[in-house]
Amino acid sequence: MPENEPTAPSLENLLHETRAFPPSAAFAAQANAQPSMYEDAKADRLGFWADQARELVSWERPFTQTLDWSGAPVAKWFADGTLNAAYNAVDRHVEAGHGDRVAIHFEGEPGDTRTVTYADLQREVSRAANALAALGVTKGDRVVIYLPMLVESVVAMLACARIGAPHSVVFGGFSADALRSRIADAEAKVVVTADGGYRRGAPSALKPAVDAALAPKDGEPATTVEHVLVVRRTEQDVEWTEGRDVWWHEAVAAADDVHEPVWVDAEHPLFILYTSGTTGKPKGILHTTGGYLTQCASTHKNVFDLKAESDVYWCTADIGWVTGHSYVVYGPLTNGATQVLYEGTPDTPHRGRWWELVEKYQVSILYTAPTAIRTCMKWGEDIPAGFDLSSLRVLGSVGEPINPEAWMWYRRVVGGDTTPVVDTWWQTETGAIMISPLPGVTATKPGSAQVALPGIAADVVDDEAHSVPDGGGGYLVLSEPWPAMLRGIWGDLQRFKDTYWSRFEGLYFAGDGAKKDEDGDIWLLGRVDDVMNVSGHRLSTTEIESALVSHDIVAEAAVVGAADETTGQAVVAFVILRGEHAERAGTPDGAAQVQEELRSHVAKEIGPIAKPRRILVVAELPKTRSGKIMRRLLRDVAENRAVGDATTLADSSVMDLISAGLATNKPGSED
Ligand code: WTA
Repeated sequence: MPENEPTAPSLENLLHETRAFPPSAAFAAQANAQPSMYEDAKADRLGFWADQARELVSWERPFTQTLDWSGAPVAKWFADGTLNAAYNAVDRHVEAGHGDRVAIHFEGEPGDTRTVTYADLQREVSRAANALAALGVTKGDRVVIYLPMLVESVVAMLACARIGAPHSVVFGGFSADALRSRIADAEAKVVVTADGGYRRGAPSALKPAVDAALAPKDGEPATTVEHVLVVRRTEQDVEWTEGRDVWWHEAVAAADDVHEPVWVDAEHPLFILYTSGTTGKPKGILHTTGGYLTQCASTHKNVFDLKAESDVYWCTADIGWVTGHSYVVYGPLTNGATQVLYEGTPDTPHRGRWWELVEKYQVSILYTAPTAIRTCMKWGEDIPAGFDLSSLRVLGSVGEPINPEAWMWYRRVVGGDTTPVVDTWWQTETGAIMISPLPGVTATKPGSAQVALPGIAADVVDDEAHSVPDGGGGYLVLSEPWPAMLRGIWGDLQRFKDTYWSRFEGLYFAGDGAKKDEDGDIWLLGRVDDVMNVSGHRLSTTEIESALVSHDIVAEAAVVGAADETTGQAVVAFVILRGEHAERAGTPDGAAQVQEELRSHVAKEIGPIAKPRRILVVAELPKTRSGKIMRRLLRDVAENRAVGDATTLADSSVMDLISAGLATNKPGSED
C-alpha cells in the first residue's frame, strides 16, 4: 500500500489488501512459543495442558487427572492436585533464589515510587494473611477488595489466596450502591479499602463509599461484613466506626511475616469477579485455582514471550477488571516477572506520562486497550516521539476490537515499526487469553485476533450452529472446555447454563460477533447481545436502564451503545419523562437540567463510568407488538444513520416522531 494513500483505509480495504507482518528471524529464534505447540496440542489437547500445568505451576500434591467433564458445563481441571496460588506467585521464586528480583516497580500518580522485590512481597503477603486471619477470615470466607492501583491491592489479593479466602475485587470507579449489591451477593466478611487514591492530580476518596455501602438501608438484611481494613494512601480524614474499622498499616505491622500457605484443592474458588450481563443484575463470575493459574501462566509466557530474567512488563489495566487479575497479578507473578504498577491516569501531570514510564523503567512488554491507543493517536505522535521507547519488544491489545488504523499506529509509533502486536481476545468468563497470535510464530495482521491458542478450540458459527466457511460471519463459540474457564455464576448455576450454554447445544456462546477472513483468521466484531463496551469496560444496557427508571422523573428508558471513534462505544439513553417533567425538558435550560440530574443519578447507582454520553428525551419508544424495545432502530438514530427496517414495530410512526423530536434535543456535556 502506498505511504500516502489518499483515503483512510477502511476495514474492508484492509481485509482485501491484508498486510501481515511475519516474525523476524531474530525474534523467532529466541521465542518462547514454537510452531510445534499447535500440532502437539491438536494431537493431544489434554496432554498439552497437563504438561503446561506441571511445567509452570508448583503443586503440593501432583494431580493425576487432567479434565473431568462429566459435570458439564461445570469443568474440573487437575481436580486431585493441591496447590496455593500465592505460594506459586511469590514464595517459590524466593526459594529458587530470586528473592532479590524486583516484582513490582510502583509509581504513584504524584511521582512517589516504591520497589518491591519477591522477598519483600513474601513478607508483605504473609503479614497481610496473618492480619486477615486475626480478623477471623478463614478458608472459604469472601473478602471484597475496593482499592486503587497500589502495591497493597496486589498484596491483599495474594493474602486472600494464601488463606484460601476467595476475593472479590470491585473496581474503585463503582458507586456505593454497586459496591453494596456486590458485597451482599458475595456475603463478604471483610472489605479491604483505602482512604482514597490519587487521580488526575488530586486525592479522591474511597472510604466514604464503603461506609455508605455498609450503612443500614430500609428493608435489606444486615450486612455480613465484620471488619473494614483501611489502607492509608492520601492522609484524608476518614469517618471511623470503632470495632469495625482497622488500619491496614497497623494490622499488618503487628502481624508476623511468616505464614504457612493453606493448600487447597485445584477446584477451590480463587475469586469471584462481577461483570455486566444482559440483565440488570451483575453476574459473579467464579474462578477456581489450578486450571486458572495454569492458563494465566501459559498464556502470559507465550503470548507476551516473557523472559522473566530480563523483561520489564507493564499491563495498564486496573485490578478491578479481569485483565488486572490475570495479567497484573496471577500470570506475571506466577512467571516471576518484573512489572510496573502505575496508580494514575495517562495524562497526569502531562500526556507523555506513560511513555516517560516506559523510558524510565525500560519497559519491554506493554499490554493496553485500544481506547488508550486511540486517545494517544488523538494527542499526536509527537508526544511518544519525545521519549526513548526502544526497550519495547512486544505490544499487546485487549478489551475491545482494535481497528487496523490504531493497530498500525501502535506498531509504528510505539513499537518503532518492529515489534509484534498481539491482539488478544478473551473475557472475564474465559479467565485468560483464548485467541491471539503467538509472537515469533504467527505473522501478525492489523485488526485481527487471528487464531485460537494451542489447546483452545474456537469457531465462528451461524444461527444453526454450523461452522461458517472462510469469508463468512456469525457468532464466536468455544467448543471444548479450557483450564481457566469460569466454573459458574456465584450462587446461580441455572443462570450460568442459560447464559452461556443454551444458545447452541454443547457450545460456549461468548456473546461476540465474529468473521473469518479468507485465511481462516478470526476478526472480532463486537457484542451481539445487550452488553456495551465503552473504553474496554463492559456495561449492560439493561443495568443502566434500571438505574434510569429508578429515578422519580423517568417513566421509561432505553439505552444503546453508539459507535464512538475513541471509546469504541458511547452510552446513549432515550427516556420518556413523567408528567410535567416532559414539559420542563422542552426548554433548553430545563433539558440541560434533566440531563445533569439523570447523569448524576446513573453515576450514583452504578458509577461514573456508566454515565450516558447523551440523554435524549422522547415521547415514545419503538416497540414490537410483543412489547420488546427495538434497540437496533435507536442505535440508527444515535449514530445519525437513516433508520433501518421498522416494519415489525407496533406503531410504525414512532420512529418519525423520535427523529423529528431530536431536533429539539441537545447533546449532553462530554466527559
Ligand atoms: C470484548 C476483557 C475484540 C469482547 C478481557 C468480549 C474484545 C468482552 C477483545 C469481554 C479483543 C475483549 N477484540 N473484542 N481483543 N478482548 N473483547 O469480560 O466483546 O471485560 O466479549 O474481559 O470484551 O470483556 P471483559
